[in-house]
Amino acid sequence: MKDARATTAVLGFPGYRPQAERLAAAVGAVCEDVDIRHFPDGESLVRLPERVPEHVIVCCTLNDPNRQLIELALTSATARTLGAARVSLVAPYLCYMRQDKAFRPGEAVSQRIIGEFLARRFDALVTVDPHLHRTHRLQDAVPNARALAVTAAPVMAAWLTSRPWEPLIVGPDEESEQWVRRIASAGGYEYCVARKQRFGDRDVRITLPHRDFAGRDVVLVDDVISSGHTIGEAARQIVGKGAASVVVLVCHALFAAGALEHVEAAGVTEIVSTDSVPHPSNQLHLDHLLSEGLGRAWSNGNQAAQGG
Ligand code: R5P
Repeated sequence: MKDARATTAVLGFPGYRPQAERLAAAVGAVCEDVDIRHFPDGESLVRLPERVPEHVIVCCTLNDPNRQLIELALTSATARTLGAARVSLVAPYLCYMRQDKAFRPGEAVSQRIIGEFLARRFDALVTVDPHLHRTHRLQDAVPNARALAVTAAPVMAAWLTSRPWEPLIVGPDEESEQWVRRIASAGGYEYCVARKQRFGDRDVRITLPHRDFAGRDVVLVDDVISSGHTIGEAARQIVGKGAASVVVLVCHALFAAGALEHVEAAGVTEIVSTDSVPHPSNQLHLDHLLSEGLGRAWSNGNQAAQGG
């Protein structure tokens, strides 16, 4: 059997090298960089190692999507020119998944368009908890037999159960229930879910369920923090109801400008995130989950190709 280090390389995007190194160690591959330089007018010059092995795994989360999508297109095409037979993408945060329909006439259905853009350029794609709402399967958004979504819920649950406490797990909206239920059940913790109405990017109304929050250690769980207004508003109300502590546990710590300040001002005790998106709150590593997902994406896809 060939040594994986001779046949596979993980190529990390700038700013994502620690995650790429951990993924390479989990996969048993070498880790190298995708070097990217920006010209004064904003164009990107992408440079790969001169020699690439048979399987190139590009490791790049998509938290700065408009720039990174172009750079991914340049990277996948260059990897093939250099002789890679297989090019996979590991993108823990998958961008543009929220716009899954035209809410107003004339709007782009970004999920499908960006999904096809990636599906055409990569032979396999692994992501974590993509924001699929009305679309239920990742492959309906990214039409590629080797597109696979894994969930960070077990990693988040392991962190929760490693602490000696009896927290109340709270989801800020109905969509969060799938993660909240799963994470709470791992420790046998109580959970509940609030209702959310969104009126604008930074304008949300949260209605908490009827519960006694006084004196409780509350853990607010969500898949994404972007503007911080969903979690901030939920935390502000829970703190106001006398909770002993409010910890925020999130998968994708996007934290747009001003979001961290907004969440901290709501009175949260601690913010804990996965390393899907680089952020000071990162405490939970996803490397083993991603490595296992990559193995599954390739074997599922191969079975599909053989009609299995
Ligand atoms: C939405 O349904 C998601 O689960 C998050 O609650 C949302 O994306 C958070 O966005 P923001 O931080 O801008 O309120």
